[in-house]
Amino acid sequence: MSKHIKEDIELVRERILEMAKEAESNGNPLTWFEDLYSSSEGNEEMIPWSNGEPNHLLVEWLDSEPPQGKALVVGCGLGEDAAYLSELGWKVTAFDISPTAIKWASETYANLDIEWRVEDLLKLPMEWQRKWDLVVEVHILQAIPEDVRVLAAPILPDLLAPGGSLVSVGRVESSRLETPGPPWPLSRDFILSIGGNLDLTSISYPIEMVHGEEVHRFIGSWQRATSHHPDLP
Ligand SMILES: C[S@@+](CC[C@H](N)C(=O)[O-])C[C@H]1O[C@@H](n2cnc3c(N)ncnc32)[C@H](O)[C@@H]1O
Repeated sequence: MSKHIKEDIELVRERILEMAKEAESNGNPLTWFEDLYSSSEGNEEMIPWSNGEPNHLLVEWLDSEPPQGKALVVGCGLGEDAAYLSELGWKVTAFDISPTAIKWASETYANLDIEWRVEDLLKLPMEWQRKWDLVVEVHILQAIPEDVRVLAAPILPDLLAPGGSLVSVGRVESSRLETPGPPWPLSRDFILSIGGNLDLTSISYPIEMVHGEEVHRFIGSWQRATSHHPDLP
């Protein structure tokens, strides 16, 4: 990686840390997402988690998951994962807390039949409970502070219809050293708790090299059991 690119990454990271710290000290720890998207003025290079491609771990996981109904993409950002799911044949709803991100994503993928919504994971519509055949969470839980995260994670399992799957992707803690976040890599115990009362169907912890550094990731999936009426075969 050239010195120039490394400096650019450091600058964006410093800017995000500053914005996140300021938002937290103002008592609104999630407002910096909208600030970042709106101040980027449509320049995707200013959004460090976005590269125009769907998440590669999610793409691999979806290989063995035939499209079969309604998918919800949580904190969809600029919409790459939602677009990929839609192209595979899922009926996709994607939401984000940032109105600018949702507008940006809906314009980028105007050719696809996706429902784009501005919603806060902490205040989702009641009718979304037990509605979805697939719920996708990529890099949200690790991007929000712990006190919000512990409220947000338990909302995810309740969104699943019987037989539906939850998939979560992010970074896993690789040492006990304090990391100035966001992102805050998640502990293995926390990751295993994301599925709540759903059945764990897969979990893996790949280690990847990114810009010459080891990045410890996870991808986990859970399924809500199909309910059987006791009197039916
Ligand atoms: C690190 S970004 C990841 C975006 C996208 N999933 C991706 O992988 O490119 C985290 C996203 O979560 C959104 N977000 C944070 N808190 C949220 C909340 N409470 N409800 C909905 N979206 C939220 C942010 O606006 C941001 O787009």
